[in-house]
Amino acid sequence: MVDQLDELLVCRLDTRRKAVEPCTIVIFGASGDLTSRKLIPALYHLHVINQLPSPFRVIGFARREKTSDVWRDELLEDLKTFSRGKNLDFSDWPEFARGLFYCQGGFEESESYQKLAQQIGDADHEALRRNVIFYLATAPTQFAGITERLANSGLLRKEEQPGGWLRLVVEKPFGRDLISARQLNSDLARFTSEKQLFRIDHYLGKETVQNILMFRFSNSIFEQLWNRQVIDHVQITVSEKLGVGARGGYYDESGALRDMVQNHLLQVMALVTMEPPVSLQAEDVRDEKVKLIKSIRAPDCGETSFCAVRGQYVSGVIDNQPAPGYRQEPKVDPQSNTETFVAMRLLIDNWRWSGVPFYLRTGKRLPLTSSEVRVQFRSTPNVLFAAQCGPRLDANALTLRLQPNEGISLHFNGKVPGTSLEIRPVKMQFDYHAEFGAYTPEAYERLLLEVMAGDPTLFIRRDEVEAAWSVVDPLRQAWSGKPLNESEFYKAGSWGPP
Ligand SMILES: NC(=O)c1ccc[n+]([C@@H]2O[C@H](COP(=O)([O-])OP(=O)(O)OC[C@H]3O[C@@H](n4cnc5c(N)ncnc54)[C@H](OP(=O)(O)O)[C@@H]3O)[C@@H](O)[C@H]2O)c1
Repeated sequence: MVDQLDELLVCRLDTRRKAVEPCTIVIFGASGDLTSRKLIPALYHLHVINQLPSPFRVIGFARREKTSDVWRDELLEDLKTFSRGKNLDFSDWPEFARGLFYCQGGFEESESYQKLAQQIGDADHEALRRNVIFYLATAPTQFAGITERLANSGLLRKEEQPGGWLRLVVEKPFGRDLISARQLNSDLARFTSEKQLFRIDHYLGKETVQNILMFRFSNSIFEQLWNRQVIDHVQITVSEKLGVGARGGYYDESGALRDMVQNHLLQVMALVTMEPPVSLQAEDVRDEKVKLIKSIRAPDCGETSFCAVRGQYVSGVIDNQPAPGYRQEPKVDPQSNTETFVAMRLLIDNWRWSGVPFYLRTGKRLPLTSSEVRVQFRSTPNVLFAAQCGPRLDANALTLRLQPNEGISLHFNGKVPGTSLEIRPVKMQFDYHAEFGAYTPEAYERLLLEVMAGDPTLFIRRDEVEAAWSVVDPLRQAWSGKPLNESEFYKAGSWGPP
């Protein structure tokens, strides 16, 4: 009975969403890790659940010589390894694979773009020739060059096309600091308008991250509590058991501050703390996020440089297995100073949050893989139970579990049943899996659909990416060139440096 009532109360907002349109996606970096692990599996899932537009086509562009058939076979093998659905049925693959084509070429060679133009123009269906998404799944240093060559070859145009559209998707990281992000923005702006540009932060495609706005703004009870009068502090944690694996070369140039804090953690923080937007339109939502990020006080590293903690893992044990130290990982400089752990305290200078500390923490080779936001409420006054229990009386908290065990729990205190008088923390839980079953789409499925629909809400705007760099740049500068000291190393399997 309750289930039927809940079903009646479902409010479908999809009718207001833009529709996906028939198009061609050109993936630059078609033989890379991102394409085989994320992009193609996401597109295949969308095909299986009939969410792709029709007609639809993918052209993979990369350097290595191969035929479309060889590329399809490789992708199928990778799909079997990386797909999220354990019982995925591959019977739809042949139909999906008929829309996959490979274009061999070098990013620097203008003839390759002519070849690509010909391949795009070969489509029978006009929409496949007129609506094109260029997805740059390449090294960030190649973003500007590819965009310029696309424009020079006439494939990418800034002006609106009657009866068609051209969009550019750019992977993260977007820049290495504020200066390079500004430069990249200017380079891309020469050939695309902001409306055509989709900067990815895949965290924004996660169900639980999207739910932050629904949770805050479709309920009245929590929003009343969401301020400095009631909240003591907020902790945002993204911890990983894994080390850098095969991505040591990339990570050693990047580090935890650039790889996680500048984008994912600040995005989550913005969604948790922004003001309600005036509407759900993309620019209204993004305006509020930008306003919030701009009001984060940049860490003042001053003379002591102790405005945050950084760390790097040394060998240790995780799950009873020995784990190598960061400097022993493949493709990592054996003298590397790159941080694999960051913990920092940020303040927001606005009326709602003034004085409330936000503790951001992320690291590799920690004891748990977990992403969560813990909103800790102020303690009760020091009378009655608090007067007797002291710090053992747990403060109330609301935890948004982003991944894994996706859900939300409210922690409060309750009486332990019995004749004695005991209090202990208890929880009210919402669990995605129990409530909605196992289906949780991958972030890239949602993001690819949004690009096909031309909705930029879940993508990072130009001023937003620059504002986020302004927050982390002082820290980056304070650490740059300073060798890690003894206290900054932590054992793999521990919670970071002291
Ligand atoms: N992998 C992930 O999980 C992940 C996650 C988040 C973001 N990203 C971002 O996604 C982007 C791609 O990462 P990735 O891991 O997929 O990189 P990758 O595995 O190194 O793949 C790079 C691709 O670019 C192609 N390529 C490189 N130089 C070329 C050239 N001069 N001409 C033509 N093709 C060239 C390579 O083709 P050949 O193999 O034929 O040489 C390969 O297909 C990066 O910006 C990364 O930061 C990746």
